[in-house]
Amino acid sequence: MNVLLIGNGGREHAIAWKLAQSKKLDKLFISPGNPGTADYGKNVDISVDDGEKLVEFAKMNNVGLAVIGPEDPLANGLVDKFEAAGIKAFGPSGAAAQLEADKAFSKVIMKANSIPTAESRAFTNFADAKAYIASRDEAVVVKVAGLAKGKGVFVCERPSDGILAAEKIMVDNAFGDAGKTVIVEDKLLGQEASILAMVDGRNIYVLESSQDHKPIGDGDTGDNTGGMGAYSPAPVVTEKIMNQIIKEMLVPIVDGMNRNGTPYKGLLYAGIMITQGGPRVLEFNVRFGDPETQPILMRLKSDLLEIMLATCDGRLDEVELHWDTRPAVCVVMSSGGYPGEYEKGKVISGLKEAGQMKDVMVFQAGTAAKDGEIVTAGGRVLGVTAMGSNIEQAQKNVYAAVEKISFDGAYCRKDIANKAIGK
Ligand code: AMP
Ligand code: GLY
Repeated sequence: MNVLLIGNGGREHAIAWKLAQSKKLDKLFISPGNPGTADYGKNVDISVDDGEKLVEFAKMNNVGLAVIGPEDPLANGLVDKFEAAGIKAFGPSGAAAQLEADKAFSKVIMKANSIPTAESRAFTNFADAKAYIASRDEAVVVKVAGLAKGKGVFVCERPSDGILAAEKIMVDNAFGDAGKTVIVEDKLLGQEASILAMVDGRNIYVLESSQDHKPIGDGDTGDNTGGMGAYSPAPVVTEKIMNQIIKEMLVPIVDGMNRNGTPYKGLLYAGIMITQGGPRVLEFNVRFGDPETQPILMRLKSDLLEIMLATCDGRLDEVELHWDTRPAVCVVMSSGGYPGEYEKGKVISGLKEAGQMKDVMVFQAGTAAKDGEIVTAGGRVLGVTAMGSNIEQAQKNVYAAVEKISFDGAYCRKDIANKAIGK
């Protein structure tokens, strides 16, 4: 079968690598892809936003499955466009993707289905938001309801900071239409975990747990990023907590989406805070997490293409998931300055040396090919990922690989997976 994978990040490099291992795969196309994905298929220069061209390309090239990586095209209904053309597509419909694209909708459906989450209210008017935040004397979290690449969330220790955040969003329009509605919610305390599951509308297949590291600085300090590293499994997700997440969160959301007339299929990602009172949903995402996908797929032994097809066909109960029991750790190497401004075009050296190390994969994200070299082309540049016999060893292996890679201004966190080790 020919497959068209849409996206160009580290997540897509990892998905391309895994799909290429499938016996069912004939040709893999990645649109637009990056220099890393080009090792596993043919990069095709079509924007993820150009649905018509993507569908046209898929038709011309006998594509049997389209796999959509990022949230924006999903929210814009790309899956519906492929399906209307008779092509299977992995991911939720545009309507179901609102679970991520509209946090107000997400909160409503969580409340309607009694899913544990932070208490919240939605506002479309700054004066109302301000009055509500001012009436509170505890920390608040202010979020834009629309898509904002992980940057639309403000955790404010003081209500006065919450008002400033709401003003920035609602008066200064810092997030455009994505900030038309603002959610104000209680701040939750605890460790975070990412729970990813395949959902075929009916069946739920939970993947191994993982934990992301969103802030830029060691010890979870500084601005939030798209994610600076991840490891799998996350020991904080005990069997008891996983069962609770399935029973209290995943099953009710899948049922609730069906009752809402927006059945869910594809990859469902629950961002969880494990509080003293038990797990709470921070948010749902409608696609694989980046960088969680990198360590999770390194541990997946089963055929990803087969699992994706079974998800599309509503027959997940017919496939099995097998995992490498060894943990995996991914460290993101970013451009100096990210998540603020940064320079591009820096030559990256050591990719080959690091990639040849045992149980190491260097997944590319913000890279470009130029004059026979690989150069930086984005904020998050690489996701260096390694397995090890235990989490300490995986951490040692990944940082040994990171050591081999260099580019001007390269930055990474030095403490990825410390939480799993209890450091
Ligand atoms: P979200 O995009 O909603 O997952 O939020 C991004 C990040 O902001 C999360 O990973 C948390 O670190 C933080 N966050 C979001 N909501 C809350 C909350 N209610 N309490 C504490 N932290 C939160
Ligand atoms: N790693 C967080 C996300 O993919 O949204």
